[in-house]
Amino acid sequence: MASAGVSPAAIIQSVEWIGQTGGHLRLLDQTLLPGSLTYLDCHDVEQLWEAIKSLRVRGAPAIGIAAAYGVCLGAGKAINDTLEETSRLALAAVDRLATSRPTAVNLFWALERLQRLVKLTPPNQTGSELRMRLLLEAQAIQDEDRHMCRAIGEHGASLIPNEATLITHCNAGGLATAAYGTALSVMFSCQDHGKRLSVFVDETRPLWQGSRLTAWELMQRQIPATIICDSMAGHVMRSQKVTAVIVGADRITANGDVANKIGTYSLAVLAHHHGIPFYVAAPSSSFDLTLASGDQIPIEQRDAKEITEPGGIRVAPKGAQVFNPAFDVTPASLVTALITERGIIQPVTTETVARMLNNDDSV
Ligand code: MRU
Repeated sequence: MASAGVSPAAIIQSVEWIGQTGGHLRLLDQTLLPGSLTYLDCHDVEQLWEAIKSLRVRGAPAIGIAAAYGVCLGAGKAINDTLEETSRLALAAVDRLATSRPTAVNLFWALERLQRLVKLTPPNQTGSELRMRLLLEAQAIQDEDRHMCRAIGEHGASLIPNEATLITHCNAGGLATAAYGTALSVMFSCQDHGKRLSVFVDETRPLWQGSRLTAWELMQRQIPATIICDSMAGHVMRSQKVTAVIVGADRITANGDVANKIGTYSLAVLAHHHGIPFYVAAPSSSFDLTLASGDQIPIEQRDAKEITEPGGIRVAPKGAQVFNPAFDVTPASLVTALITERGIIQPVTTETVARMLNNDDSV
């Protein structure tokens, strides 16, 4: 584990594979930000499973990328070089990592890509050859995500005027992806095009991804960021001129319903009430066209202590009942547009989602 003070010029790389096929995974421990830049080296699947579960690596695309490398970690443990042994360990890693978090579909999308690769590997190949193929696939997933996020930024920037005031929720930035982010990539592209922005950042209870991570990323890019408690968003919309809300997504279903960090739905209802556009920025890897609607998305329930004892300090009576869903679902009817790497989906309907997602001319 390596640790350093946080410098404003730090380059954000939340997931990095170190070495070749026998290498390991280096994660920026996001639970320790913004206080310290501490890297966690994962050498086996269990270490990575714990890192995903406890949000050391988090954000839908970053979870998918990390899990893909996790299959490489698993396959790397084979003690002989047979295809059989290496495949068995790779598939065991797929199964194990699939139990880490249930909501972000990128996890399953990435694991399925590696699983398919294992199953399609010709029987005359060695274990080393399979390990190389797995590593190349994981690297491809990471590279593709970088390109998708950049394209999302460019498409999204066309929706945002100069001098805009935005609200965002949770962290959909470079930390949550291979680079740039999704919602934050839109802001970074606006900045690249010389548009001036200011952003209200929901602190995002209970784990503060907004105040800890998003405010940090925006400040690094010198984009004016103002942290608000989640409960202040309505007042901000009523009392200030808010141009748009932009958030990321953990899973978008065939009809355009969006699962994202708990509190997103309330923000969408508020935006609708105030006539403010509500944009969701996400790569095609965050769409799950096997589900007809958001009602079918599994919502992760997390430990009560995240609410009753944040940072180890008790803020609720012992034994108090707690409800702690990590995500909610915003119906498509409240989403003004979906911003993808392939273009903008507006209006958001089953037909427009299918038309954009079934067109294979991606970035
Ligand atoms: O629980 P988290 O921090 O993994 O939740 C993350 C979010 O809800 C993000 O908004 C989403 O994954 C999009 S990240 C580009």
